[in-house]
Amino acid sequence: MSANALMQVLHQLPIPKDKNLLVGFDKADDAGVYRMSGDTAVVTTLDFFPPILDDPFTFGQIAAANALSDVYAMGGTPRLAMNIVCYPKALPLEPLNEIIRGSMDKLGEAGVLLVGGHSIEDSEIKYGLSVTGFVHPERVITNAGARIGDSIILTKPIGSGVITSGLKAGKIKDADVTIEAMKTLNRAASIVMAGFGVKAATDVTGYGLMGHAMEMCRASSVNFVIKAAQVPFFPMATELVKKKICRPRSIASNMEFLKDEVRCVNVDAAVEMLLYDPQTSGGLLLSAPQGRAAKLVDALRSKGVNAAIIGMCVAREDGWRIRIE
Ligand code: CO
Ligand code: CO
Ligand code: CO
Repeated sequence: MSANALMQVLHQLPIPKDKNLLVGFDKADDAGVYRMSGDTAVVTTLDFFPPILDDPFTFGQIAAANALSDVYAMGGTPRLAMNIVCYPKALPLEPLNEIIRGSMDKLGEAGVLLVGGHSIEDSEIKYGLSVTGFVHPERVITNAGARIGDSIILTKPIGSGVITSGLKAGKIKDADVTIEAMKTLNRAASIVMAGFGVKAATDVTGYGLMGHAMEMCRASSVNFVIKAAQVPFFPMATELVKKKICRPRSIASNMEFLKDEVRCVNVDAAVEMLLYDPQTSGGLLLSAPQGRAAKLVDALRSKGVNAAIIGMCVAREDGWRIRIE
């Protein structure tokens, strides 16, 4: 659903209150967090969607990496997972077997146990997982922890929405770099940021870099300045948008939803559009004090995480929330 539609529904609901509920749905964060004891909180989340590419095993891997990511974004360690399956009656069962095997491959890498699930017949395949993890209640990383003067760091390139729809439409053949990135767990990035005492993070998914950055701005009461030239993009992504070969429809709806709160100065139109591209299994978006940001990026890179500083947090100012320059 669009961010707009979802917000209209959620705003009408009563907000659950409990002294141990550390993060609920009203925070627009990645996962719910509930304190069980002085040193343990449960992190719980759920994500599922239709196949974004043809190979079922790879789709399963990406769906799992994507579902686990919300726990990593909260600084948590995922432990248990349950399948969510929608599957057409008319299809053979072999592809579903491959999807789940791909998913279990990633769950195994993450040290997560598949413990059950639920399946229904549906006209279209959809697959995902509900994931449960744990975190120390004082080390929960939320989207509300960004502070003025923080540098903003992104841990995967942007453009997987454009690339996967280009692949589906037969407009490109080689998407290996993008697929590899979508399959990559945000675990290493999460462990490094937790080790650095990072206070604010989210992961970049369906609302695009700008949509998830906006959630952090709102929750943290700061403004963001994003340096478009410093944002890494997947190979071919800019070209596909520039030549109008492929532009996912949700780019426009993500843009429309935020237009009153974003100022864009001297940025190429294709690059601007990519900042709203819906991501699957995108990277972590985090903020850290400017003086420590370069060291943090070095630490992330030494663990194979393709991290970059893409902007900074500035004081709250009326009339805009994010400036892209
Ligand atoms: Co998320
Ligand atoms: Co999610
Ligand atoms: Co059931």
